[in-house]
Amino acid sequence: MNTPAADDAPPLPWSMESIRYDRIDPHRSAGEETLLRLVACASFIEIISDRYTANLVEYSRDDPAVVDWLRHHWEPEERQHGAALRRYVQTAWPQFAWERAYQGFYAEYSRCCQLERLAPSRSLEMVARCVIESGTSSFYRFLAESAPEPVLKDIAGRIAADEVRHYKNFYHFFRRYR
Ligand SMILES: [Fe+2]
Ligand SMILES: [Fe+2]
Repeated sequence: MNTPAADDAPPLPWSMESIRYDRIDPHRSAGEETLLRLVACASFIEIISDRYTANLVEYSRDDPAVVDWLRHHWEPEERQHGAALRRYVQTAWPQFAWERAYQGFYAEYSRCCQLERLAPSRSLEMVARCVIESGTSSFYRFLAESAPEPVLKDIAGRIAADEVRHYKNFYHFFRRYR
């Protein structure tokens, strides 16, 4: 367990401080622009998790156990995923205009990420979250196993473990709502 971001926040499962960004080997990522673009896309969707969390919190506002987990575990962990991946992209691939690309993504995503677009029932929304979390855990597991650069492997392995835990939590809530 690592130092929390704020005094009253529970500790995150791991910290960006333990990622050795100084050891990124750019030669191992040379020619891997498609892979780096995937990592950049992942950083966008992870870093904007506060938008989706706000919707889910509003959607679940009379269920304190769900709201507490979303606010104090899910959101900070997802945002850390985004921050860790962003730093990776900006370090390993400084030519990529991360901020400009993110602004374009933000404008488009913000229009789609609406409370009204959540599933029509809580159990279905929890199923949707389970699908996403199992998809993200698969994606990061793929990155951890196939990325040629060791620091990216490390980050992806840590995130994949978080996503499996997220799946388990949403599955737990699904069983409650079913
Ligand atoms: Fe994530
Ligand atoms: Fe997740």
